[in-house]
Amino acid sequence: MSNNLLQGKNGVIFGALDEQSIAWKVAERCNEEGSKLVLTNAPIAMRFGTINALAEKVNAPVFGADATSDEDLENLFKNATEHFGGKIDFVLHSIGMSMNVRKKKDYTDLNYDFMKTTFDISAISFHRVMQTLWKQEAMKDWGSITALSYIAAQRVFPDYSEMAESKALLESFARSFGYHFGTRNKVRVNTVSQSPTMTTAGSGVKGFDEFFNYADKVSPLGNASAEACADYCVFLFSDLSKMVTMQNLFHDGGFSNMGMNPAVLGL
Ligand SMILES: NC(=O)c1ccc[n+]([C@@H]2O[C@H](COP(=O)([O-])OP(=O)(O)OC[C@H]3O[C@@H](n4cnc5c(N)ncnc54)[C@H](O)[C@@H]3O)[C@@H](O)[C@H]2O)c1
Repeated sequence: MSNNLLQGKNGVIFGALDEQSIAWKVAERCNEEGSKLVLTNAPIAMRFGTINALAEKVNAPVFGADATSDEDLENLFKNATEHFGGKIDFVLHSIGMSMNVRKKKDYTDLNYDFMKTTFDISAISFHRVMQTLWKQEAMKDWGSITALSYIAAQRVFPDYSEMAESKALLESFARSFGYHFGTRNKVRVNTVSQSPTMTTAGSGVKGFDEFFNYADKVSPLGNASAEACADYCVFLFSDLSKMVTMQNLFHDGGFSNMGMNPAVLGL
């Protein structure tokens, strides 16, 4: 169903790896709502994933960019503005990877080189994306920038490991850069704190299936799906959310405000 909420808008979407990816669903919804799109992912992910099928579906070019490289990001946004023939209205940062989780390192035995890589990919990349957009003056006034986060930024989820600190950093970058972008360009910057979602990144976390079911039971509305997250992102990219900025917005079926749910105890 389309309400043309993004008609006439240009958006850049990071992080669609395969059909499960949250970014994939966001791209599909943005396309339905009438926006023009540019898709991007790390060159290696483009080889292993299926982003080209999405590109065909939403009629968008794919420009490879490693989000830890200034040069790649500079080229990406130059190519994007050239493709659109104008500035960018919205950007989705949907990027996450933990080296220590991938290497199955315990939280009490983390490798700090891995940790730096994790922060670089999962959080600093968000600052890098915004700084590149800022320097190129590539965002249209009243545009919208959103990154995906997780509640481990605020509460302890032991198996989420160093991704918890990554997300805390990510959310802080949204607030701090949100000030600058808001003041100069009326551009809003937010993070969406999403429910556990069955994706490549999500299922890399130990015990993910059990935790997914637990969160689903705790949340009065159940877990928010990737499709529901895409709807919420469309709202954040649309003119309906113009005055929302520097926020971490929970999109989690109510999970974040629950203490105990009798359903978990089988009561
Ligand atoms: N799946 C969940 O349970 C869940 C919950 C809350 C938040 N999130 C967040 O949602 C976002 C998207 O994850 P997803 O669940 O859709 O998984 P996903 O694996 O489909 O997406 C992660 C993406 O990050 C990209 N990426 C990794 N390194 C990169 C780099 N150097 N440069 C550019 N891109 C790079 C990958 O190629 C991939 O497309 C992440 O920030 C994740 O932390 C996921």
